[in-house]
Amino acid sequence: MNVDTERIKSLIAKYNNQQHALISILQDIQAEYHYLPKEALEITSQTLNIPLIDIIGVATFYRSFSLKPKGKHQVVVCMGTACHVRGAPKILEEFERKLNIPCGDTTPDGEFSLESVACLGCCAIGPVVVVDGNYHAQTTIRKIDSILKKYKKKEKDNDGK
Ligand code: FES
Repeated sequence: MNVDTERIKSLIAKYNNQQHALISILQDIQAEYHYLPKEALEITSQTLNIPLIDIIGVATFYRSFSLKPKGKHQVVVCMGTACHVRGAPKILEEFERKLNIPCGDTTPDGEFSLESVACLGCCAIGPVVVVDGNYHAQTTIRKIDSILKKYKKKEKDNDGK
């Protein structure tokens, strides 16, 4: 991925090049690229005068950061105990089959990333699947096609505008 050096520098400058703003800067970079490209981390390292290894340490510590490219749509399947006993493993398997990728990966066209999570804190409505921050309650294998279609459709609608 090509990183716009000036853009990264201006994101950092928003925080007056302050080292203590590192997490906010990483959040802004991730919001822009959907992950943390290595080149962007190198620019951050030079600008803030923080060793690259320390920045990578922070980026790997927080689950919300990703060093791997993510898809346009993030599919998260809850695999916590309550969702697990209500069939989450079969739901995750079906997403893997439909998207043709293992959990933790991104489709080759860059459309979807698939992840699992321990518990989303809303066990009563499980099994829960979250796509781009939207919660899908009591998910069943039958609902998976319509969930995916909805996000594929959004794309088409936006293209048509
Ligand atoms: S176990 Fe899935 S929301 Fe808690």
